Amino acid sequence: MGTRTAVVTGASSGIGAATARRLAAEGYRVVLTARRADRIEELAAELNRSGGEAEAYPLDVTDRAAVDVFAEHLGGQCRVLVNNAGGAFGLDPVASGDPADWRAMYEVNVLGTLHLTQALLPALIASGDGTVVVVTSTAGHAPYEGGAGYVAAKHAEHVLARTLRLEIVAEPVRVIEIAPGMVHTEEFSLTRFRGDAERAGKVYRGVANPLTAEDVADTIGWAVTRPSHVNVDLLVVRPRAQASNEKVHREG
Ligand SMILES: NC(=O)c1ccc[n+]([C@@H]2O[C@H](COP(=O)([O-])OP(=O)(O)OC[C@H]3O[C@@H](n4cnc5c(N)ncnc54)[C@H](OP(=O)(O)O)[C@@H]3O)[C@@H](O)[C@H]2O)c1
Repeated sequence: MGTRTAVVTGASSGIGAATARRLAAEGYRVVLTARRADRIEELAAELNRSGGEAEAYPLDVTDRAAVDVFAEHLGGQCRVLVNNAGGAFGLDPVASGDPADWRAMYEVNVLGTLHLTQALLPALIASGDGTVVVVTSTAGHAPYEGGAGYVAAKHAEHVLARTLRLEIVAEPVRVIEIAPGMVHTEEFSLTRFRGDAERAGKVYRGVANPLTAEDVADTIGWAVTRPSHVNVDLLVVRPRAQASNEKVHREG
């Protein structure tokens, strides 16, 4: 068996970076993509130094032409695609949310996943044993106040994964959805609140142990390394202190 290539989008921070590390440890040749070249280059160099095989490829997943060039660059080599790039912008009620935020969330979470999946599906099928991972969110399964734009985008991404699984059932490609709840990553809430560190910090205040990026990477690593015939359709993963999107136990 030749080296198996895993592509991870949004590998410059949080869940994507942890997933790249995990898949490298599982023996995959990992291709890290994100817009910030310096960060993925640094991580790829670290993985190569520690005996792994990694490559950094700067990419904006919302740019379809660039995604197609990336697919050509891969030369038909792709066994695993982890659609992780995404995020939330704002926490505003439906009545006052900025349509530009809604559009941007749809672009990165939904169309980004669509672009990569369409471009790499031929390679995944040709591999004879491909896996598409879609990192959605518990926001893709239930609403919360102020979250509608993100909730709508993540619901759409969830439906993309479900529909794709129906459509390619005859192909040797699995479709795995990972839906995390509260994950304390460095940037997710900072991005949501446009750099307002105090507001971002409040999201996790008093929560004993929010999930870490490594916890989510662990579930991705586990799901991807099941035997080929085992398709983990959906994993909903939350910290113990979170019973639903809005029911969170906070201490103090
Ligand atoms: N943190 C949570 O609580 C949580 C919970 C459930 C689901 N999720 C989902 O998990 C995924 C990762 O979240 P995270 O917490 O790890 O967030 P994060 O640290 O903010 O990471 C987001 C990643 O997406 C990349 N990205 C954003 N826009 C992009 C674009 N247009 N093209 C390419 N890459 C882009 C970012 O890299 P660049 O800026 O360098 O491009 C970054 O690497 C997201 O899909 C998020 O919605 C997060």
